[in-house]
Amino acid sequence: MALLNFSSLVALCFTFLALFSRVVAFNITKILSESSGDFSTFNDLLTQTGLAGDINSHSTITVLAVDNGAASALNGKSKDLMRSYLSLHVILDYFDKKKLGSIKKSQEVTTLFQSSGKAKGKQGYLNVTVTSGNIAFGSAIPGSSLDANLEKEVKTQPYVISVLQVSSLIMPPDLANSTSPPPSKAPHKSPQSSPSAAPEPAGSPSKSPPSKKSPPSADGPSSNDQPAADSPSEGSAAAPAIHAKSSTSILLLSLGLLSLAWSLA
Ligand SMILES: *[C@@H]1O[C@H](CO)[C@@H](O)[C@H](O)[C@H]1NC(C)=O
Ligand SMILES: *[C@@H]1O[C@H](CO)[C@@H](O)[C@H](O)[C@H]1NC(C)=O
Ligand SMILES: *[C@@H]1O[C@H](CO)[C@@H](O)[C@H](O)[C@H]1NC(C)=O
Repeated sequence: MALLNFSSLVALCFTFLALFSRVVAFNITKILSESSGDFSTFNDLLTQTGLAGDINSHSTITVLAVDNGAASALNGKSKDLMRSYLSLHVILDYFDKKKLGSIKKSQEVTTLFQSSGKAKGKQGYLNVTVTSGNIAFGSAIPGSSLDANLEKEVKTQPYVISVLQVSSLIMPPDLANSTSPPPSKAPHKSPQSSPSAAPEPAGSPSKSPPSKKSPPSADGPSSNDQPAADSPSEGSAAAPAIHAKSSTSILLLSLGLLSLAWSLA
């Protein structure tokens, strides 16, 4: 009996661990608005371009934020181009100051722009160069200048999200050309692909009960599919819900194992 209690406890612990590790997420909009820096323009642009939702849907990410003065470099750019430039400031890995400092000379890192499908050559990558006393970011396109210097850590939650302030935006001129003909290339989805439609490949018109959805297909990595979608919050709210669903299966599995253990006892 003691053994059984112990195993049920372990099973329960794992279940809750699984549940929590999936459901706990972050909200980049909230992080930036609660920070002491002057990030309101950058923050608004992340929301306007739909990138905030994309950022929130990742579980390991680094955002290079700029203050209002530096963000004005995007004034007058089209929304598409803004999105491209801003997505270049989202690194698909966790880097805090300490981890950056451990880079030997320089390293190439992958950004969200690379997963947009619009990047050519090295456009989707950044070059991080560490010199004594300075950490600088620039486009990985050969010959680019390394103009964005690390200023400070805004918020770090190890291996989940890091928000770093850099001195200026990284705006390689070539990017403007690669994204200038957007009408033909724009990732337009069918009319019914509203924000909540992405995880519903089955295309059932009625809302099927959550437990019916298959988790593997639910987690489409192509999270850049809602540039024109109206509410990014709905899209990003879907992600934890899906994770919760897969956690439900873990819970059911654990319960199954428990009852098996029970019947054996
Ligand atoms: C990063 O940029 C510097 C300066 O242009 C260059 O020397 C270095 O080789 C680059 N590193 C990578 C990994 O591309
Ligand atoms: C990008 O476009 C501008 C003008 O539209 C042009 O001057 C520039 O040479 C182009 N750059 C490349 C790399 O094609
Ligand atoms: C994120 O935070 C902002 C500001 O606090 C809030 O308006 C928004 O609804 C939040 N988004 C989600 C998905 O919780």
